[in-house]
Parts: sequence; C-alpha cells; structure tokens
Amino acid sequence: MTSSVDDIAKVQEAAKRNLWLHFTRMSSYADGDVPVIVRGSGPYVFDQHGRRYLDGLSGLFVSQVGHGRQEIAEAGARQAAELAYFPLWSYAHPKAIELAARLADLAPGQLNRVFFTTSGSEAVESAWKLAKQYFKLTGQPERYKVISREIAYHGTSMGALAITGLADIKYPFEPMTPGGVRVPNTNFYRAPAFVGDDLAAFGQWAADEIERAILREGPNSVAAVYLEPVQNSGGCFPPPPGYFERVREICDRYGVLLVSDEVICAFGRLGYYFGAERYGYQPDIITFAKGVTSGYAPLGGMLVSDALMEPFSSGAATFLHGITFAGHPVSAAVALANLDVFEKEDLPGNVRANEAAFRSTLEKLADLPIVGEVRGDGYFYGIELVKDKATRETFDADESERLLRGFLSHALFDAGLVCRADDRGDPVIQLAPPLICGQEHFDQIEQVLRSVLTEAWTRI
Ligand SMILES: Cc1ncc(COP(=O)(O)O)c(C=O)c1O
Repeated sequence: MTSSVDDIAKVQEAAKRNLWLHFTRMSSYADGDVPVIVRGSGPYVFDQHGRRYLDGLSGLFVSQVGHGRQEIAEAGARQAAELAYFPLWSYAHPKAIELAARLADLAPGQLNRVFFTTSGSEAVESAWKLAKQYFKLTGQPERYKVISREIAYHGTSMGALAITGLADIKYPFEPMTPGGVRVPNTNFYRAPAFVGDDLAAFGQWAADEIERAILREGPNSVAAVYLEPVQNSGGCFPPPPGYFERVREICDRYGVLLVSDEVICAFGRLGYYFGAERYGYQPDIITFAKGVTSGYAPLGGMLVSDALMEPFSSGAATFLHGITFAGHPVSAAVALANLDVFEKEDLPGNVRANEAAFRSTLEKLADLPIVGEVRGDGYFYGIELVKDKATRETFDADESERLLRGFLSHALFDAGLVCRADDRGDPVIQLAPPLICGQEHFDQIEQVLRSVLTEAWTRI
C-alpha cells in the first residue's frame, strides 16, 4: 500500500523535525528522504513509496522468523487484553514463568535461572552487576573488572559501554565506569604476523592474551570475561578451533566468570538456540535479546547458572537490581509464540541445512577486487572491503567516508537490499538475513552486492 504524495511529504517533514535517529548523522538527511519502512512480510520490508527491500540484516539482527507473522502478533494482543502489565518485582506472571522454564530447557548445562531485561545493553549490564554482587556475597569483594575484546560491541548504557571495545563511541562519554579491560579479538585476516597462517595457533594466542590480561590486572580483581560466540563488530570473527576451550580453562583457573554475550548469536543465528552450543563451551551466564522475540516486542535477559544463583537463594540475600518493563507480559507471550514458530518450522535446522549454500553464494563475490574476505558462520556474515587484495591494504579515513557513507549505504538500499556498511573496525558489509531465507534470497543478496561493489570499485 503506497501513501499519497501529501502524506509522504508530511511524514518526511515530521521525521526530520521531531525524530532523532540512533547512531545517525541527522545532517545527512538535510537534502534527502529519511527511509521510512512501513511494513514487512517474510524476509521483505516495504517503504512508504511501496518499494520492496530484502531485509538482509533482519532489521538489526532481530527478525529471525521474518516479518508479518500473524500468530505472534495475535499472541501479543491476547496477552495485552488479559494482563497488559505487571512487574517482576516480588510478583510473577504466567508468561514470564513459562518463558523462563522454556529458555532454561533450551540453554546448555545448568543455566536454569532467567533474569529478564528489556534490551541487550541491560542484559550485559545486569550480568556485570550480578558478577559484582555475587563476588561481594561470596567473600571476594575486590573482583569487579571485566575483560572483553577490541572492537566488540556490547551495548551503549554506561556499564555496557565500559565493556564495549569501540574507542570512538566511548570517548564522548568519558570518564567510563571503571573496570573495562581489552584483549585482542579473533580477526584472523588481520592477525599479527608471527601467527603466520596457523589458525589454531592464532586461537591459542588470542585466548592466552586473556590469561595475560588477568595476570596483568591481578587475578583477584577480575570478575568476568565477556565474549560473543562470533564477534559482530569488525565484520564477523568466528572463534578459531580450540579458542573457547582454552578460554574456559583460563576462566576456571582464575575463578573468573565466562559471559557469552549472545544478543546477536542466540536463537538460530548460528544454527542453534545458543552460540555456545555450536562451539561446544559452557558459559556461566548467557546474555540475550533481539531474536528471543524476533522483534515483535522488546525483550532481553540473562540465563544464569545454578551456582551463581546459589548465594542469593537463602536468607536476606537479594539481587539489588530491577527494571520496570523487564519480562513484560506482552513480550514474554510474544517470545513464546516466536519459539513456537522456531520449533514448528525447525528454523535452527533450516540454518544448518542452508548455511553451506549461503557461504558458497557469498564466496562468489571473492572474485571482485574490492572483496578482501568473506567470513562468518550460520546466517551471519561479514565481507571485508579492501583497497588492495594482495597486501590487504584498507581504505584511509577519507576513502572510507566516501565509500561507505557517500556511496555504499545508499546504493545498496536503492538496489533493494537492507544490510549494513560499517567501518567501526575495517570497512565491512554485514549480513544477517531472517532464518527463513533460502537460495533465492542468497542469490538476490549476491547479485545486489556484485553490482553495487563493482560500481564502488570504479569510484575509489
Ligand atoms: C553483542 C551485543 N551485545 C549487546 C548489545 C546491546 O543490545 P541493545 O541494543 O538491545 O541494548 C548488542 C546490540 O547490537 C550486541 O550486538
């Protein structure tokens, strides 16, 4: 359904006058339209002009089951009619209970306790608060530091920002919450020269850097290590073989908690309900958000091990933390309906069955001079763009600005593909299509990228 020219103009005017877009240069819309997405269906979304786009990023790594699912929308509406709101402060409601039990069932190991939030940042921050209070309760009050990886994104609220490893989005908000410590990520394409081409050795070195950081900081001061199963920022860094096994050993040796930040990687993105399952490691906490509802309502949370809960389960001990809308009944009902779709359609199985085809379709792009590397797992890929394939030389700040903001972001969207051209690390195109996608969508992604990246090369 398209809107009239007058309606479109009014919406554009109001968007420019009243709405503040996140992480967006508002000035970039001074002479052009704000893209206004009005509806979605399956893996596609439609703008106010009626133009269709393949949602190659699932919105923002969110829309796992795709758009326009009536049964999920109706589950939310039914819950709003029955009990729109009640807090999880001292009370419970049936959908939060049912969802907590279902998530505990799906999660690996003894992650049996669910603390809900409304977002990923709150989940990440809640895990840090839990780690701090847990150690205070158990006689190790000096443990408060958290280790995370360079370029990794863990959220924007002040605590989560201190864990995030992107200097540019932190510096305007300094001073940071104390305690954030950075270690190298698992970007093998840009690994230090001494690692050579030995991926397993690189993984051991990157894991051992966590141990060195713990020793440097003082083992008794470190509370937790935060890692995504596949790091998103920087353009999809999967873990080298043996990496998580070694990290788990190190965490156990020094009594440090392992937090698997699965805000993106959980709920089928890597072909399993949780990324930790795919790579065979056992976290102490899993943080989640995004795909748990496929975006039909906001929800996040953390899955916590029985051992971490234990000091809070008797006497006056209380986790002194709460959020009004956390585990909102409508969001919990929507999450349950979302998980029903996952089960009915075996979406993790669909990802496992098709991921090789997705990879090989994207790898066709490797013949383009601008494509340095195609990397990722499951339905989660980054394509690194380079100026020189042989030397892996990247673009300077000015070229990156012209290429990504000046051309690629608009050109990809104009060509009908929602994805992200990002240069928070080296310039990359990020892809994370809905889990219902198949070969026809992979081909569409490849064709759009081929033509837009070919054009981009002529403009450098
Ligand atoms: C790994 C990771 N952690 C945390 C967050 C923060 O989530 P939110 O934007 O819901 O606060 C994100 C968001 O993209 C993320 O990717």
